[in-house]
Formats: sequence, C-alpha cells, structure tokens
Amino acid sequence: MAKSIDDLDVAGKRVLVRGDLNVPMRDGAVSDATRIDRLVPTLTELADRGAAVILMSHFGRPKGKRDLSMSLQPLVGPLRAALGGPELVFVDDCVGKAAEAAVASLQPGQIALLENLRFYPGEEANDPSFAASLAALGDFYVNDAFSAAHRAHASTEAIVHLLPCAAGRLMQSELEALAKVLETPAHPVAAIVGGAKVSTKLDLLGNLIHKVDMLVIGGAMANTFLHALGTDVGKSLCETDMADTARDVLAQADAADCEIVLPGDAVIAREFKAGAASEIVPIAAVPDDAMILDIGPGAAAALADRLVDCRTLVWNGPLGAFEIPPFDAATVAVAKAAAELTKSGALVTVAGGGDTVAALSHAGVADDFTYISTAGGAFLEWLEGKELPGVKALN
Ligand code: 3PG
Ligand code: MG
Repeated sequence: MAKSIDDLDVAGKRVLVRGDLNVPMRDGAVSDATRIDRLVPTLTELADRGAAVILMSHFGRPKGKRDLSMSLQPLVGPLRAALGGPELVFVDDCVGKAAEAAVASLQPGQIALLENLRFYPGEEANDPSFAASLAALGDFYVNDAFSAAHRAHASTEAIVHLLPCAAGRLMQSELEALAKVLETPAHPVAAIVGGAKVSTKLDLLGNLIHKVDMLVIGGAMANTFLHALGTDVGKSLCETDMADTARDVLAQADAADCEIVLPGDAVIAREFKAGAASEIVPIAAVPDDAMILDIGPGAAAALADRLVDCRTLVWNGPLGAFEIPPFDAATVAVAKAAAELTKSGALVTVAGGGDTVAALSHAGVADDFTYISTAGGAFLEWLEGKELPGVKALN
C-alpha cells in the first residue's frame, strides 16, 4: 500500500504534486471543473501544513513540443477560484532555470503551477534525466493523478524512484473506491457496461466476468451480442465481425458463473437526431430499416428491479445514446434507481470512464453515487485488471 501525505513531514519543505489538470475546455473556458475541484483538498492541506507546493500536470497531447494552444495558463483563474485561500503563481516552464528560480522564491503555504509537462518529449518517454530535472524542484513527490496513472511517464513513474513519495487524497480515494467494488466487494456484484464497441472493451469484459455475478451489457455493444445470438438488429450500430468473439465471451461468462443480461426490448428510430420519431419494440421485432438507440423501458425496469438484490454496482458507459432525448430514458431511469438504493445504504455504487460521468450528471445523480471516478482511460484499464504503472510505482 502506498504511503499517504500523513506520512510526510512537509512543513518548510517543497512538495511536488502531480495532478491531472487535463480538463475539458470549450471556447477557452473550463467546461467541467471536476478534476480541479477534486485536486484542491490535497493542495490546500499541504499548503496549510506549511509546504511550498509545486503543481505539475499535462494538458492535451502537444507531443513533446511547446505548443501554447495547450498551455496550462488558462487554468490559473479557475484553479485560483477553486483554491480560495492559498496564493497561486504560474511558471511558464516545468524544468530549467525559470522553474528553479520560481521554486526557490516560493514561500511555505504558496502554490506554483508549472507549465505543461508534455511540452518536453522526456515526459511521455519516461526519461530518467527529465524526471531528475523535475525531481530537482522538490523534496517530496505526491501523486494525486489517478486519471493519468495508466501512463508510465516521467512525472508519474520515473520520478517516483528519485524522491520520497506518497499518494495524495484524490489518489487515495480513487484507489479505495475501486478496491471496494472489485477487490473486496459485498456480493452480489453487478456491472453495467455500455458504450459503442465490443472491440474496445474486450479485455474489460473478459476481466469482469470473473469478478462480478451479473454483467449487464448496454449501448451499441449489446447489439453485437444480440446479433451474435441470432437476433436481427436492423440498421443498428453493430460489429458483425465480432460475433464469434461475443459468443466466446458468453461461453466464458457461463463457465465463470457470471450472468450476462441483455435487453428484452428496445427504443428504435429511423434516424438518429433530436425529435426523430421513436418506438418501443420487443427485441425480436426490430424492423430492418430501424436502429436501436436505447434499451427499452421493460429492460430498464427489469434492471432496476435486479439491482435491489445486489450489494455492489460498478458502472461504465451509458445504456443508450443518452446525448439525444428520448434515447437517454433508460440510462436516466437506471441511474436514478441505483442512486436511490445507494442513498438507502443498500448498494455501493462506483462509476467512471469516458461518457459515464456525463451520463450520470445528465441523470442528476452524480452526487448520489458512492463514488464517481475522475478517470477515463485509467478507470477502464483498471476494470481490465491491468496494473497501472503510476500506482505500481507508488506502491
Ligand atoms: C485523461 O484525460 O484520460 C488523462 O488525463 C490522460 O490523458 P491522455 O489520454 O492524453 O494520456
Ligand atoms: Mg485519455
């Protein structure tokens, strides 16, 4: 188990914190500040304890070049607003003379935000000498970027070997939540996996069937499974070339005593756009010229019912094309049912990865789940059973 910041005597010391400020932006403004808000507790705690805090992050994929369209400078305002108390300065480089001078003049209780780590190729190359340049800026290293822990980069991996290190508060809570659903869960455990493609979630399905008691497949992925079982899915999104693979997953699930749940009805339409005429049909009656855009109300109600008997739920991916009503109905209904069970203490609910958080926010239940991960790719890799290099290094 990794150390926490409780184990570091940070007063009067320089603490390098790896955060993940890779937040979504629209028209130059942060469109979802979750990652900023969730990083703040570690920063304020360290500052309050008398550390000079040096915050580093990547932003976008500038591919080792200084590309100011991916500068972290625009995040200074939002970060200051979220921090409230501690003073924040921006340093327009992450290594070298400018960074060293800025850090040398930083006072206890202050925070310096360094420019985008990925402006240097050494970051993604996990280059030990680049890591050494970063390590030169601090006395301790704290990793609070679970959502970047699937990357073996200089600021998440190589640096760990150079400084005394610990997990930040956000990293700790992510790891605790994840352990609660897959390592030491209360059974029965259900997983809901949605999304478009079986091909991108094969490792995830392969791992989950050995961990959970019931695996609910939704989204366009369900169409591929239905097709593999001989159901006509009309014009639905479907990976016909994955039929053998889907049948193999079903056989493996059977052998592992994991029940696979597919929808018994569907919401269909002839076009995918807002206001398109939609119909509810039994799954065996999808017309040739229509496509499935959501699981049906019968399937959603059955699923909500089944969750009553579960103790743990892990959720990744929406059940339908939730961005366009009415194809959000099943995702919203099941999310609300899971939220109610969570509030009554009957169910532990953990969600993350890709569109999941947006879907749950849309359902208005983001605050009612036991835990919502800030991670996309890292959450998926963790569901795949992979060891995350950033976590492994800390341990
Ligand atoms: C993310 O947003 O998933 C993380 O910040 C990692 O970013 P990356 O996929 O560009 O490595
Ligand atoms: Mg990613």
